Amino acid sequence: MRYRMIAFVATMAFAASTGIAVAENVKIGFISTYSGPTAAQGDQLDKGVKLFMKLNGDKLPQGVTTQLLVRDDGGANPDNAKRIAQELIVRDKVQFLTGLVWTPNGASIAPLAGEAKVPFISMNAAGVAIPYTSDYFARVSFTMWQSCYPLGQWAAKKFKRVFVVVSDFAPGHEAEQAFSKGFKDGGGEIVGSIHAPMATTDFAPYMQRVKDAKPDALFAFNPAGKQATGQMKAYGDLGLDKAGIKYIGPGDLTTDEELQSMGDVALGVTTVHHYSAAADRPANKAYVAAYKKEYGANLWPGFMSVGAWDAMQLIYDAINATKGKVEPQAVMDFIRHYKNPNSPRGPIAIDPETRDIIQNEYLREVRKVDGHLANVELETVGTMVKDPWKQFNPKKK
Ligand code: PHB
Repeated sequence: MRYRMIAFVATMAFAASTGIAVAENVKIGFISTYSGPTAAQGDQLDKGVKLFMKLNGDKLPQGVTTQLLVRDDGGANPDNAKRIAQELIVRDKVQFLTGLVWTPNGASIAPLAGEAKVPFISMNAAGVAIPYTSDYFARVSFTMWQSCYPLGQWAAKKFKRVFVVVSDFAPGHEAEQAFSKGFKDGGGEIVGSIHAPMATTDFAPYMQRVKDAKPDALFAFNPAGKQATGQMKAYGDLGLDKAGIKYIGPGDLTTDEELQSMGDVALGVTTVHHYSAAADRPANKAYVAAYKKEYGANLWPGFMSVGAWDAMQLIYDAINATKGKVEPQAVMDFIRHYKNPNSPRGPIAIDPETRDIIQNEYLREVRKVDGHLANVELETVGTMVKDPWKQFNPKKK
């Protein structure tokens, strides 16, 4: 035993002096949604993570391996998510926490990860204020302000009266606030607002109220997945398109993995977002091809799968930068200055001040391309956009 200890210490000393990594197994706690009415969103995270690991699993320092500890949060349930994260931190001793479709879950975990000094990378959970609650939180997804504020500014030049329907949880409220600020500052009027339960798939009663109000446009946010398809169908079934009510919102409304199930009623729907599967950037073409090869020729990756892919790239880059030692402070120093010029969505970076994502925002319209529906990018409405909410609401020191 004593000899083994001496040998181990000697190996460590040699490794430290030469910079060669010793065998390390980096544990990554991955929390997603595999059950319940919002499992489709969690499946996108799962697909992005597994594809990344299959194609890049060997791109680590010599002797370093990763171990993914997969957990199901069952949907937006902050108490459940907190219990799972606590177990991953205390019992399993993970060195990274990641995943998280849902803001309520991410918000409940962030302070915990901060106290335990475990770097926590959000693949999706978008609530604007989460980074303010933990120095060990960083985000590679988006905030609702990044897409909905420029959309509001754009809409003010096109429409006078807009009706708002958003999911009744933090990202929905934030989407409404961001859109309304951009739209009202530009002279537009919000003529009605509905907060629909977040797991709603029957949107018919809400769409009837919108139709009766005769607005120029409906601004909506739903949490992608089956909810997006449900709302699109109700928009068509109740004839809002035929009544000339334009459908606009963030890209969650026309998320690429659901788009083909929405049908032609989606044609002309206009959104602002950071990712489209139809984008012709080489990194995106490669991503879409790899996704189709792995999961099926008729499937398209959605923005949540790209959030997962990019988060894994960041984690792998951090492991490489620290030669597998992943000391929390060193990892966060690395993440704070992170840049990836080659994400499928275009260039991305982490804002060193807030640890939030910086990325381009594109104005898109659903069109038919080669016989399938596609979010065609028309214009870059913002280049390397920082979260506007944090610019309006800097953290008090
Ligand atoms: C979130 O909970 O932050 C969230 C979920 C689904 C979305 C967007 C944001 O489509």
